[in-house]
Amino acid sequence: MNITSKLPNVGTTIFIVMSALAKEHHAINLSQGFPNYPSSQKLNDLVTNAMNNGYNQYAPMAGNLDLRLAIAHKYQLLYKSTYHPEKEITVTAGATQAIYTIISAFIRRNDEVIMFKPAYDCYEPAVEINGGKTIPVQLSAPNYKVNWDKVASKISSQTKMIIINSPHNPSGTIWSKDDMLQLQKLTRNTDIIILSDEVYEHIVFDDAQHQSACLFEDLKQRSFICASFGKTFHNTGWKIGYCCATEALMVEFRKVHQFNVFSVHHPSQKGIADYMQDPETYLGLNTFFQRKRDLFLSLISESRFKFQPSQGTYFQVLDYSEITDESDVDFAKRLTVDFKLASIPLSVFNTNNQDDKVLRFCFAKTDETLVKAAEILSKI
Ligand SMILES: Cc1ncc(COP(=O)(O)O)c(C=O)c1O
Repeated sequence: MNITSKLPNVGTTIFIVMSALAKEHHAINLSQGFPNYPSSQKLNDLVTNAMNNGYNQYAPMAGNLDLRLAIAHKYQLLYKSTYHPEKEITVTAGATQAIYTIISAFIRRNDEVIMFKPAYDCYEPAVEINGGKTIPVQLSAPNYKVNWDKVASKISSQTKMIIINSPHNPSGTIWSKDDMLQLQKLTRNTDIIILSDEVYEHIVFDDAQHQSACLFEDLKQRSFICASFGKTFHNTGWKIGYCCATEALMVEFRKVHQFNVFSVHHPSQKGIADYMQDPETYLGLNTFFQRKRDLFLSLISESRFKFQPSQGTYFQVLDYSEITDESDVDFAKRLTVDFKLASIPLSVFNTNNQDDKVLRFCFAKTDETLVKAAEILSKI
């Protein structure tokens, strides 16, 4: 039997490669983006209560209503932005499913989708499998600043969507208000849809403000905002997220969503809804992760790695150009095998694997793990 792959260029992801290598060599794993400490006992208990109180059958297609009300409340509280809980918010199986479903609902053959590289790895295959074309805009270390003239030059009559991601995985940079205004100006009077991946919205440091797409009225009208409870509540394995958009966009989203997953794990939704009644559960994240970032960076301040402190997300990129001229993939592998510390080389997220000699380290780890990792980095 002949199988013709629809995604011939997709192989094993770097996350699987590095985690397998970390396991084989008993290395500390700062490669994949997940916490190595427990999620909240209170939240776990609320999910158990939901199971014991009958939330065991299909949730409504768009999500448990209490959860959609809690999400709507959050947008009012943080951004003074209104999303109708019944018409403009849908709960999804993680942000990944929201992203895939948005792309499937709107991207047709030969539609162009602009995305900024380095880019989180689920965007491009979703565009490709739906027949679309990725139009990359490469950003570079150390600042990953957007050249808006370059973006303008990539927009064509075929441009259907622009995917943005702030706070940004993998670089740990955030977009400014000016970036968002530039994007708004560029897309005004077009039919371009914005997919705004905001999964790290609550992890922004040094008193900076997250510039959500919903804060800019014209952008809001054309944007899907994607979010992930896994990132917010330290439970990436639950795979619960959501997206918000205007009713007209959401109608199209739900046409695909209802035949894709229909609805997602009900007791978790109810538990999260109850947990979110206290906004501190998400407002406290900045402080929680800023302390971890600062601990990690203070411990490696004497090392030969160069860095600018992460502005958001739970990732820190480190420049190793003063240590070796090896490729980032080779150096990341050597660091894992010889020094027992796993990271992610950034080139795998770049156009033509551009190699800026930087590695990404996840600091959503116990202090003990961070101390051990920093000891290794300081010795190299
Ligand atoms: C930028 C970005 N978007 C989306 C996701 C996926 O989120 P989820 O686990 O909720 O599917 C991740 C997870 O690492 C991410 O870093």
